[in-house]
Amino acid sequence: MPLLSIFLLPLLLPSSLAQKKGNLSPETHPPFQWAQCTSPTNCTTINSSLVLDANWRWVHDDKYRNCVEQNPDGTQWWNPAVCDLGDESPASTNNCTSKCLLEGAGDYRWSYGITTTNATLMQKLVTRIEFATNYGSRLFLLEKKDRYQTFVLLGNELSFEVDLSTVGCGVNAALGFVAMDADGGMERHEPWNEAGAEYGTGYCDGWCQDRQRFVGGRAATNKQGARGYQWQSDGACCPEFAVWNSNAHSYSMSSHICENDDYEPCPGPWCDPTYYDPDERGVPPKCARKGCEYNPYRMGAKEFYGKGKLVDTTRNVVTRWEEDRQYQFFIQDGKRIDVPAPTWDGLPKQSGLSKEMCDVQANVFMEQDIWAVHNGWPTHQRQVLSRPMVLVTSIDAADWYTWNTWLDSSKIPPYDDRDPGVERGPCPWEDNEPSIARASNGQAKVVWSNIRFGPIGSTVEL
Ligand SMILES: *[C@@H]1O[C@H](CO)[C@@H](O)[C@H](O)[C@H]1NC(C)=O
Ligand SMILES: *[C@@H]1O[C@H](CO)[C@@H](O)[C@H](O)[C@H]1NC(C)=O
Ligand SMILES: *[C@@H]1O[C@H](CO)[C@@H](O)[C@H](O)[C@H]1NC(C)=O
Ligand SMILES: *[C@@H]1O[C@H](CO)[C@@H](O)[C@H](O)[C@H]1NC(C)=O
Repeated sequence: MPLLSIFLLPLLLPSSLAQKKGNLSPETHPPFQWAQCTSPTNCTTINSSLVLDANWRWVHDDKYRNCVEQNPDGTQWWNPAVCDLGDESPASTNNCTSKCLLEGAGDYRWSYGITTTNATLMQKLVTRIEFATNYGSRLFLLEKKDRYQTFVLLGNELSFEVDLSTVGCGVNAALGFVAMDADGGMERHEPWNEAGAEYGTGYCDGWCQDRQRFVGGRAATNKQGARGYQWQSDGACCPEFAVWNSNAHSYSMSSHICENDDYEPCPGPWCDPTYYDPDERGVPPKCARKGCEYNPYRMGAKEFYGKGKLVDTTRNVVTRWEEDRQYQFFIQDGKRIDVPAPTWDGLPKQSGLSKEMCDVQANVFMEQDIWAVHNGWPTHQRQVLSRPMVLVTSIDAADWYTWNTWLDSSKIPPYDDRDPGVERGPCPWEDNEPSIARASNGQAKVVWSNIRFGPIGSTVEL
């Protein structure tokens, strides 16, 4: 962050080739409380803390020059004046890996718009600092200073309150679980990653997150970036349960599975040159980008969720991971409100994710059935429900491909809005373009609070 660049302190560089820590500003994880429950009257407050994803950090060389150049349209690239990518082979990207340091996020509030009080966390979309603007943030829950807290979902439930009243069209405020390594990938990617969970490394998700600067501890590259698209590594893929992708107009819950149980984040295009096809936007993926999803608006319940609708945007959400069905309900004025069942023919008459729902969804919505290709339901139970996952919260308007239209709008034409599954929310797709969404959501902030986790039935009194 430019504010810090006035401190031109000498720095001793370790000599190995690795994703490293800077030592200009100390990392100060904001404290955050959540609760582990065994019954609604027996929840234990855990005093933990949060860490900012490495991708939001200042990456600089030993002379405090920016390693990464960011453009207003979301493109970013390694700064050729600082490090040399060579032919983008693993050996030549080591130059960027070894020269570029990941800086501590000294000031979560003023640099990144992140504040915590007890069990409440607020994340702002836009934070202006002296010579720069920060957009959005992604945070992970820590168990201790250098290790993420992990959760196994099956048989458990999660409840939290969320205030989305200021989060408008095109912005996604999200809470979910991803199968990241609890140490941020230090052990798996030894000797490449020296920064670890303390510096928020190792993010991956079911969309094969493709704007990561480092994947597997190494500087990530992709020819798409050179061609002027946004940053593309080949993506950091891992199973994901997106509990809550949302704004004031729409929300969805979804599961994303991967091709192999032993998924391996791919550090660059050399891993699998056929994987990313810029014209087809990622087919066939290593992880099922779309997965299986439940968005009540898309399922036909257009008057259920949103400002002035049955369930407002400041609510307690409960998610249950039962073996045969994973579903949500809301608590509003002390009453349980269930999510409406789908109205489209061919879908089960019950909300949430079930084998039946996930098996037929792509067909009813006339989409490529990637779920079936990956042997959907058993894979989901194994990869998503049964393995330890890391809790992630984020806010951003940074989907430069599809403008978050998959969340709150319709596919960009020519599609017929009357076809099943085309409309996912009431937002006009033109308003969702990220720079427009950022400009019109200058005051947007999401407030998460009272996160509770425990066996089914333990987190809320009904
Ligand atoms: C309350 O929870 C703790 C663990 O968090 C457990 O050891 C204890 O047995 C529980 N008490 C009751 C009455 O369930
Ligand atoms: C957690 O923090 C609160 C408030 O700072 C304090 O009252 C409580 O004793 C702490 N609990 C534990 C288990 O450390
Ligand atoms: C990185 O590349 C630059 C420019 O080609 C070169 O001067 C420098 O020696 C390289 N550094 C390392 C550590 O390989
Ligand atoms: C945070 O918790 C402390 C200790 O329990 C309490 O005194 C304080 O009022 C709480 N702050 C807020 C904003 O709720």
